[in-house]
Amino acid sequence: MAGYPARPEGIAYGGDYYPEQWPREVQEEDIRLMREAGVTLVSLGIFAWALLEPAEGRYEFGWLDEILDRLHAAGIAVDLGTPTAAPPAWFSRKYPDSLPVTREGVRVGTGGREHACSSHPAFRRATVELVGRLAARYGEHPAVVMWHVHNEYGAPLGECYCEASVTAWREWLRQRYAGLDALNDAWGTLFWGQRYGDWAEIDAPRWSHTVVNPAQRLDYARFSNDEHLAHYRLQKELLGGKPVTTNFAGTVNCKSMDLWTWAGELDVIANDHYLDGERPDNHIQLAMSADLSRSLGGGAPWMIMEHSTGAVSWQPRGIAKRPGEMRRNSLAHVARGSDAVMFFQWRASRFGAEKFHSAMVPHAGTDSAVWRDVVALGADLRTLGEVRGTRVTAEVAIVWDWVAYWALELEWRPSGDLAFLERMSAYYEALWRDHVTTDFLPPSADISDFSRYRVVVLPSSYLLTEAAAKNLQRYVEGGGTLVVSYFSGIVNEHDTMHPGAYPGVLRDVLGLTIEEFHPLRERESVTLSAGGAARVWSERVRLTGARSDQTFSSGPDTGHPAVTRNDLGAGTAWYVATAPADLRPLLTRIVDQAGVTRPRDLPETLELVRRDRYVFLINHADIPATVPDVTGLDLLAGTPFTGQVPAGGVTVVRIPL
Ligand code: GLA
Repeated sequence: MAGYPARPEGIAYGGDYYPEQWPREVQEEDIRLMREAGVTLVSLGIFAWALLEPAEGRYEFGWLDEILDRLHAAGIAVDLGTPTAAPPAWFSRKYPDSLPVTREGVRVGTGGREHACSSHPAFRRATVELVGRLAARYGEHPAVVMWHVHNEYGAPLGECYCEASVTAWREWLRQRYAGLDALNDAWGTLFWGQRYGDWAEIDAPRWSHTVVNPAQRLDYARFSNDEHLAHYRLQKELLGGKPVTTNFAGTVNCKSMDLWTWAGELDVIANDHYLDGERPDNHIQLAMSADLSRSLGGGAPWMIMEHSTGAVSWQPRGIAKRPGEMRRNSLAHVARGSDAVMFFQWRASRFGAEKFHSAMVPHAGTDSAVWRDVVALGADLRTLGEVRGTRVTAEVAIVWDWVAYWALELEWRPSGDLAFLERMSAYYEALWRDHVTTDFLPPSADISDFSRYRVVVLPSSYLLTEAAAKNLQRYVEGGGTLVVSYFSGIVNEHDTMHPGAYPGVLRDVLGLTIEEFHPLRERESVTLSAGGAARVWSERVRLTGARSDQTFSSGPDTGHPAVTRNDLGAGTAWYVATAPADLRPLLTRIVDQAGVTRPRDLPETLELVRRDRYVFLINHADIPATVPDVTGLDLLAGTPFTGQVPAGGVTVVRIPL
């Protein structure tokens, strides 16, 4: 693996740059302004296929040569894009059957982007032709420090239902299942008489007027992930040499790709993150996305490849960032392990779909708060250069599994309120408010990976393999603390029930069985014996070894356990059979009993994260925050830390060794 790009030095700073949208004078001004702001890296060429190959087999690289040379002369490094997310009009015209088809059978039109199917042979051929040329021409260019393949695989094009996809799907199934008997068993095709006698009878799980076989749907999601990944690999093999990445469409938000399967194929993890403008506490989602990005790379430095200086153009309302918010957001990514701060985009576009999207150079120009903040951020990042390469450590891990996400959110589950991200966020947020830094792990992680953590949390693992459950049990027996939320461990990798009572493969580790689910009505809540309300879920827990910690004091399971603890071997397994309105009292108790280190006496709105000897303090409140136990140099001010973080401010303290 080529690893993190060697250049630029320090924390990389910049964004997506589309010089092709601007005349030469503006490009010259761009380079001057980039230098003024301290920009060190720009992503180039991401959607430029139509300019690089204006007609099939006719290439025009001159404009790119020129801008690369000029950026290089100005000391600005380039993350060179491959433009396959925007196939040119001539391609779609010549290969109309390369246009993706939705599950509902609608063929996607042109005029947008992501309008070629990753499985289509002509698209793969054209990709190889173009990317091979880019590699040959620019692989040794001194400005180019890394490659940026495609753009946001999986968003918006996740699954495609075109003919080429179905052909590839049958081949994928043949590889996965040695024979049709194995497929019929795995998919449970005895149900509704779906048995297959010939591979050619198997179609994609297209939209139907009733529920389509869930095992078939799960495999189609896996297949679709693998097809996009194969398209990425095709390019990666051609590029070689310098580090290669692709920008994830939001680690937390891009449901369609199983990013654990991608992580090992990237030299550096790159994530795009945009705030949900409507949520006042959206910085907690940002933190979760950043922690998941770091975890995908096994803790290695990663890159925030896109975020915004202000409003985005694709949400119901373009909510601009408040003063100081962009700085807090950028430095929160750095705090959580990013060695880059990159934006979409450098200069706001005058035309096209994203002209109301914020940028580093806004339409208002340089006499604007945004520009002044951009310049100030560049200066901060220069000062923070020494943070590069340092690592975040965590004592708590959350198990995150995209396959469980897909499975949970298929149709006909016991409650329409079961939602993967909702439970993930609830647990993450409670830990965040306690200043507990969290890593993420796949359920297939090695026992040695689990054992590095004092606490492992399973907020939403409806689908869990027997092997993963055994591993978790060994983790507990070896002294770990496991916390499991309701509706976990129910089905195997084919969405087939684990035999016996719920919670299937987790019965032994949790020391309980569940007799019946009693999901609550919409807006119904129940109360708990320790105080507080709970929503969504209630169930009849029967203890087979665990002890009750709290019971339901109203609702269908009044008097029966709602929270349990099972001491097993040297460790403990907790179970939470509902969605408490406030998870924090319980989680605080659990992490404290498990001996997790966490700072005390801090306001909830003060985010504290450590990268080795650097303590990042991000104040999300509009009053100053007092931080009692941190001493050292305030790196950005260059003076000893006073113990106070200004309202809305960020302080980075270098503590003495
Ligand atoms: C995504 C894309 C960018 C741009 C931004 C706008 O992240 O990768 O090309 O469309 O969204 O927020």
